Amino acid sequence: MRSPIAVIGGAGRLGSLVTRRLLQEGTRVRVVSRHPERGRLPLGVEEHRADVRYADSLATALRGCAGVVFSVEPGTADSGPDSPETTMYDGVRNVLAAATEHGERPHVVLVSQIFVTRREHPMNAYGRLLDWRLRGEDAVRESGLPYTVVRPSWLTDESFAGNR
Ligand SMILES: NC(=O)c1ccc[n+]([C@@H]2O[C@H](COP(=O)([O-])OP(=O)(O)OC[C@H]3O[C@@H](n4cnc5c(N)ncnc54)[C@H](OP(=O)(O)O)[C@@H]3O)[C@@H](O)[C@H]2O)c1
Repeated sequence: MRSPIAVIGGAGRLGSLVTRRLLQEGTRVRVVSRHPERGRLPLGVEEHRADVRYADSLATALRGCAGVVFSVEPGTADSGPDSPETTMYDGVRNVLAAATEHGERPHVVLVSQIFVTRREHPMNAYGRLLDWRLRGEDAVRESGLPYTVVRPSWLTDESFAGNR
């Protein structure tokens, strides 16, 4: 059986679209969520409880994956567990470490956002959200892994191909 792809935030709005699309293509999918018991996941996915802020929680979820999609909503506090630093920087680095712990070289897809290079943008007032997003992107680029970084503006929660 082919190696799975982990979708972190796979129960979220974008992550669930990614998850469904991967399932349609016959890919094994691991949805990584802090609350898998909420039961919003499609049939056929492997469910893993983990939180990107806590490195130890990620080991089992990311072991042996061929790809990792990071589609995590950042906190907006200036500091502490709900800050962008903990999710979009520390969290990304935790994921990179866990996903490569046993020599794997997964393709990493990081969902970032528009404006990350515009430090003066008002969105950066929320816990330096844009700065930490960019630092997280840099961590992915510097990892040496194959990667894709996307910087969406506004998502419509619809599949590009309609009901495919
Ligand atoms: N929607 C847009 O218009 C838009 C525009 C630009 C960029 N983006 C970015 O695209 C990404 C996905 O957005 P979305 O709209 O799909 O957001 P969403 O519906 O809020 O989903 C994000 C997911 O992040 C997960 N998450 C949050 N903190 C986590 C943590 N510490 N550890 C593990 N998972 C965590 C949550 O999963 P659990 O609760 O299951 O743990 C949640 O399902 C985000 O980075 C967002 O900022 C979105």
